[in-house]
Amino acid sequence: MNVYVCEICGDAYIGEDKPTDCPFCGAKENFIKSEVEAQPIFLRQEKIGDETKKRMLETYKLETNAVAIYNCMAEKAKEYSQKAMYKRLAKVEMEHATIVTKFLAMSRPEIEKRDCSNDEKKNFQITAELEENATVLYAQFNRFSSEKVAKIFFTALSQVEKNHLDLINQFLR
Ligand SMILES: [Fe+2]
Ligand SMILES: [Fe+2]
Repeated sequence: MNVYVCEICGDAYIGEDKPTDCPFCGAKENFIKSEVEAQPIFLRQEKIGDETKKRMLETYKLETNAVAIYNCMAEKAKEYSQKAMYKRLAKVEMEHATIVTKFLAMSRPEIEKRDCSNDEKKNFQITAELEENATVLYAQFNRFSSEKVAKIFFTALSQVEKNHLDLINQFLR
């Protein structure tokens, strides 16, 4: 058995082989290292400027909002498979919000209760919109940010949200 650590969320995975994506934050395999090698981005000593802090706070808002919406969609889902999928999406987005709190030394995210539609298709559409918006925004945040850790963070997140978008699009076809 081996221990692998994700450099994006800092969480450890114990298993025979490295997972293809981080089971916690969804970051791609190239961000997952052996425990001795891994240097989680929020532990690296790089000063983060005010503009990037603002981008991170915007990320936090987007992610906690997504958690609230996906929690509701999980509750409303009729089939267990969809309930499980929305719960997983909520957990991954919660992890993204939590990474911001580690960068900015904030307290743990608090999630408010949100309402959502009873209509399955409508919820898939809203999910696709949220994920597409996040994919584009984080790609921009990557370009606008000069700090290396911020570029890594926003790149990783943009890829994860793109994967979510691809997943949801399968249901919309
Ligand atoms: Fe991770
Ligand atoms: Fe996210």
